[in-house]
Amino acid sequence: MAKADASKLDWNNLGFEYMDLPYRYTAHWKDGAWQDGGLTENSTLPLSEAAVVLHYGQGAFEGMKAYRTPDNKIQLFRPDRNAARLKNSAERLLMPVFPEDKFVDAVKQVVKANADFVPPYGTGGTLYIRPLLIGSGATIGVHAAPEYIFTVFAMPVGSYFKGGMTPVNFTTSQYDRAAHKGTGQSKVGGNYAASLLPGDNAHKDGFADCVYLDPVNHQKIEEVGSANFFGITKDNVFVTPKSPSILPSITKYSLLWLAEHRLGLGTEEGDVYIDQLDRFKEAGACGTAAVISPIGGLEHNGKLHVFYGETEVGPVTKKLYDELTGIQFGTVEAPEGWIQVVD
Ligand SMILES: Cc1ncc(COP(=O)(O)O)c(C=O)c1O
Repeated sequence: MAKADASKLDWNNLGFEYMDLPYRYTAHWKDGAWQDGGLTENSTLPLSEAAVVLHYGQGAFEGMKAYRTPDNKIQLFRPDRNAARLKNSAERLLMPVFPEDKFVDAVKQVVKANADFVPPYGTGGTLYIRPLLIGSGATIGVHAAPEYIFTVFAMPVGSYFKGGMTPVNFTTSQYDRAAHKGTGQSKVGGNYAASLLPGDNAHKDGFADCVYLDPVNHQKIEEVGSANFFGITKDNVFVTPKSPSILPSITKYSLLWLAEHRLGLGTEEGDVYIDQLDRFKEAGACGTAAVISPIGGLEHNGKLHVFYGETEVGPVTKKLYDELTGIQFGTVEAPEGWIQVVD
């Protein structure tokens, strides 16, 4: 694949696609310790055919973004939370933890080295950053790998769901992405492999993605594709599901805080029953990639439940979006510790 050329990119019309940027960070773990890592131009990883990640899925990743501010600075949104979540995922898959301070430093090095690819302010584009930790060492029995690779690469992106802040429709899936005591709380490849077929089925049926219900009784909403769900009740409570098989979304926890402290809404992490959608006047999907994507309608058992509307964004969703993205792009004051500038 050809290296990306920043001078040829159409910043206003970026998709959500891989690009091979000039630099990434790579570090190796062997003989029981992390070796010194650093930037490299090589975008391929040399792997044994018996690398544990290839067979047994011993790998975890993160998704985060760098934002260009109006005064041309570049900033990260809560990168310490991604470092902490990768630590949790690593522990769940019996992988060595990449130190959290070094994680943030590696991300900053990659963003700085690829600064030409951070889209200009006002285009809506961002630099999507993908930290990845894999069991690279060879073994054929089901064991943890003897060696690991931690890498961070990046690419400029536009909106994840077509249309960005315009409402899209979803449908419930009959499949589960993760079990309650499985790996749903971890950002590991297996969860996403399990989501490919249900996601594809939803796309074929004309939906943006599928909504997963709880893996025990299929009665409660869990996730919206690769984003968390939120609803705004008729009496202005921001409600988001609580379950051991949901990925703890950094965007969701940020919105919970903003809803309470900036918008004066009530907040609740609890059960969201699929047969009680009438309690919500608005609903959305939230995540780093999705940002906030309003849910126009949600189909379940052949019936489409429309929230605020299939074409218009509800006012609370819009306010949450403006507050969140204002903080991320540096035009709204951030709560302490949420923003780290890359210089
Ligand atoms: C399954 C799943 N749920 C939720 C999210 C949203 O998490 P975050 O807000 O930390 O990006 C993501 C994306 O990372 C995801 O893959």
